[in-house]
Amino acid sequence: MLGRDVLVAVFGLWLVRFSAGGSARPPAPPIASYFGTKGRYEEVNPYLIDDILSVNKSWSEPPSADCRPAHLTAVVRHGTRFPTAKNIRRIGRLHDAVLRHARSAHAWLDEIRAGWDMWYTEDMDGRLVEKGRDDHRHLAARLATAFPALISRENLLGGRVAFVTSSKHRCVESVEAFQQGLHGFLGVKEISYRQTVNDKLMRFFDHCKNFIEGVEKNKTALREVELFKSSAEMRNVQKRIADRLQVPHDYITPDLAEAAFFLCSYEFSIKSLNSPWCNLVDEADAQVLEYKNDLKQYWKRAYGHDVSRKSSCPLFHDLFRRLDQVVYDIRFGVVTDAVTIKVGHAETLLPLLSLLGFFRNDKHLTAMNFREQRQRAFRTSQIAPYAANLVFVLYECDDGVRLRFLLNERPLAFPDLSDPAPLYQTVRDHYMRLLNGCDFQKECELPRGRGTTRSEL
Ligand SMILES: *[C@@H]1O[C@H](CO)[C@@H](O)[C@H](O)[C@H]1NC(C)=O
Ligand SMILES: *[C@@H]1O[C@H](CO)[C@@H](O)[C@H](O)[C@H]1NC(C)=O
Repeated sequence: MLGRDVLVAVFGLWLVRFSAGGSARPPAPPIASYFGTKGRYEEVNPYLIDDILSVNKSWSEPPSADCRPAHLTAVVRHGTRFPTAKNIRRIGRLHDAVLRHARSAHAWLDEIRAGWDMWYTEDMDGRLVEKGRDDHRHLAARLATAFPALISRENLLGGRVAFVTSSKHRCVESVEAFQQGLHGFLGVKEISYRQTVNDKLMRFFDHCKNFIEGVEKNKTALREVELFKSSAEMRNVQKRIADRLQVPHDYITPDLAEAAFFLCSYEFSIKSLNSPWCNLVDEADAQVLEYKNDLKQYWKRAYGHDVSRKSSCPLFHDLFRRLDQVVYDIRFGVVTDAVTIKVGHAETLLPLLSLLGFFRNDKHLTAMNFREQRQRAFRTSQIAPYAANLVFVLYECDDGVRLRFLLNERPLAFPDLSDPAPLYQTVRDHYMRLLNGCDFQKECELPRGRGTTRSEL
């Protein structure tokens, strides 16, 4: 209990502000669950809105009474951040257009005109915000509550907890906040941050030439996204936003429509505000804009192009090498590597999840099938909000070593494996082809289109 008291003292201000009765909590915009990778973590686990440190213990129970946790690896996205410079410029253009041309008499428009300053500046470019630090401090405390035998004071002080991060500011600051959260929770004082930076692991996409040439720089790779931008659904969204503002329809481009949506998301995720800007977009519009973002992630970071998934092979192999090592260590009775926390990007998590086969749709997401894909599995609002996390836990059980996977703190069965905590060997067998292949050199460095080896999945 001590740990929690310390944490409450450290973050007391934040907690008081949000726990002084329901009325003190700002209402969420009705579109908050559609923000995709710009979504708040609390939208995925809404019970956190009442108590940001609450943990559902049934999700972290061992597979059976005879099992003991032996190792935990987490791959975590950085916390809430500022918009990138590109989106800040778009927000500025939207603001200008509204001030200059909007004529409607809505009260919310008066609020924007009289009370809203364009406070975003380009130098904020994607940096972590205070809420983003809290995201990681609180996640650290919750994971330590869920897995006390692994994320323990003893393991932390004994050097059995490792931290790895992408070199980006927002990731380094996130991993430091995570450590602050642990120190507070575990009552550890005067221990310095000890992360290592590893972009080959956490930003593998920057190192994969075939991905850069074949997807990132390839003007036709995101064709479906471009087509959807000029679809009837998107035009309708633009028209409806223009009507709400009473500006000519052609003033609201797809980019400005998206800027309105993002602005609502940023005001909410950064400042916990239900901003007057949120009135520009209703739920039906938000579903269209959510789809547009999912299309982009799908074609850029997931199943759309094989190389997007395969670019995560270094992280995949690193993960399994570590698990293999722990299994070996268990046999000899000395596990020295209790916990690894790896901090990266949505662009890190989505390819790895796709490589592992999670959230695969029967059909590709395309510009034409928005309606058909309403119930799609691939929904980044649920998968990759700020501070999204993939957790792999190894258990030592009487019948062998078992592996459990959790996404955003909830157990999730491996694709095509019904046991929620299968034997580790079963998981290894399941991914055998990847374990024996998925070669970074082959997938990322060689000229493409030679032979048929690329379709090994
Ligand atoms: C915890 O999770 C279980 C299983 O998902 C669920 O049935 C239960 O209602 C949850 N408990 C709380 C307190 O939310
Ligand atoms: C670019 O993307 C298109 C569409 O996916 C693909 O057919 C083409 O081969 C890619 N070009 C390169 C240079 O990889």
